[in-house]
Order: sequence, then structure tokens, then C-alpha cells
Amino acid sequence: MENRNNSSLPVGVIDSGVGGISVLRELVKLMPGEDFLFFGDSANAPYGTKSREWICETVLSHTARLKKRGIKALVVACNTATSAAISTLRAAYPEMPVIGIEPALKPAVMVKDHPHVLVLATPGTVAGEKFQNLMHGFEEKATVSALPCPGLMEFVEAGELDSPRLHAYLQEHLGPYLEHKPDAVVLGCTHYPFVRDAIAKELGEEVPILDGSLGTARETKRRLTAAGLLREREEGGSVIFENSIPEKVELCRRLLGQS
Ligand code: DGL
Repeated sequence: MENRNNSSLPVGVIDSGVGGISVLRELVKLMPGEDFLFFGDSANAPYGTKSREWICETVLSHTARLKKRGIKALVVACNTATSAAISTLRAAYPEMPVIGIEPALKPAVMVKDHPHVLVLATPGTVAGEKFQNLMHGFEEKATVSALPCPGLMEFVEAGELDSPRLHAYLQEHLGPYLEHKPDAVVLGCTHYPFVRDAIAKELGEEVPILDGSLGTARETKRRLTAAGLLREREEGGSVIFENSIPEKVELCRRLLGQS
């Protein structure tokens, strides 16, 4: 049953920058009737090289601001922020659905029997307890390698999705995996789907590249439905972009595929 008091509020979506738009585009596709308020913290990016405490405090303060303005749920569209802050956020807002994202290891380990899965993520995500536990949980089913990619999100923040500089970065980092290629690659940072084509060019199109954006959107829909908060209406919803660097809003629109 739709909870009419709150269901008309937007869903808040946050990231350290513009990367969370890879999740936002799945949310919009799956729930076209919802309104979304996307906040990217590009002024403080990257989060992936900052301390857990700093990330927790920063994400809590952004959430408090969004909550005051009125959101009915929060999607933490950032693997790094999820790893550092999801339990703190859930404890702070027990009445609100708070959905996080984590590297999509589950579908990746199913590509074949005992595959080698390579996870690309930020240094913070790779070092975090959450990812270490996730990785150990799959240790009997797959060989999982983690490749921290400091500096990769910055290309996406700059709107540089296919430049010679980006390809040089990828060649350097993926080089050691080219002779014996992994059976699947997981993009464990929400910025990376925007450089998926460049990664595929370097790795070879035959390697499946997975990310957690659709899974997170599906989980959000499930949680909204369970809480009676899913907006059921005919007309399309709206997307509002906000960023701690206001000039980034144009890039956000471009990444979502709006002019
Ligand atoms: N988009 C973020 C993630 O999913 C991280 C980028 C960063 O701020 O380092 O991990």
C-alpha cells in the first residue's frame, strides 16, 4: 500500500562526485515515476583516499541536509562511502530506507566454474573490512584479485572518458593482467562504468565487465515497495542535480544522457 504522506518526496542519491550517476540512470529506468535528488560532492572528491572517519562525518552531514529538505529514502551510490558509512547512516536514520552499493562479486563468480575475478575499486574500498569480508566469502568459489585504482575516478570527474592519458593509465594498471586475462572484471566504484568502453578496449571485448548499479536499483525498488513508499503514477518523475562544485551539474546531465 502506498504511503501517501511520504511517497511524494524524492529519493536522495549521493556520491563523492559524478560517478553515482551510473546508479541513478538505472534507478530512473526502473522507477520512471519517482523524483530523484542527486548530490555529488566533487569539491571533496576523491573519497577513496580519505579516512573512514572523515568519510563517515562528511556523508552524515550531507545526509542531514538532504533529510531536512525532505527525502523518503537514501541511495549511497558510492562503494567507498557505503563501505565506510552505511552502518552509521542506518543507525542515524532507522525510519528511512538507506540502500548502499558493493562490488558485484555474486554475478561475477558465476561466469564459469572457479573463475578468476578482478575487482577494480578505490584504495578505500579495497582496504575496507566490508570488501575484505565479501572477498573471503567467495574464496571457495573463485580467485578474487583486487586492483586499487587511485586516480581513475579523476578522469570521470574531468569528463575525460576516452583520452590518450586515460588509455595510458589503464595500460599501466591492467598490463599485469593481460597475459593471463581474468574471467570477469567487476567495477567496484560507481565512476568506473563511465570508462567501461576504454577498459574493454584495453582488456579485450571477450572479458565480461560487471557492476552493481542495476542490483542496487532493484534493491531500492524492493525497499521502497516494502515500505509503501514506491511512487505509482503515470507521468515521469524529475531529477534534480546538486553538486558541491555547481559547474559539475552540466557534466551530470551529460552522463545521465540528458542534454
Ligand atoms: N564513486 C566512488 C565509489 O563508488 C568513489 C570515488 C572516490 O571518491 O574515490 O567508490
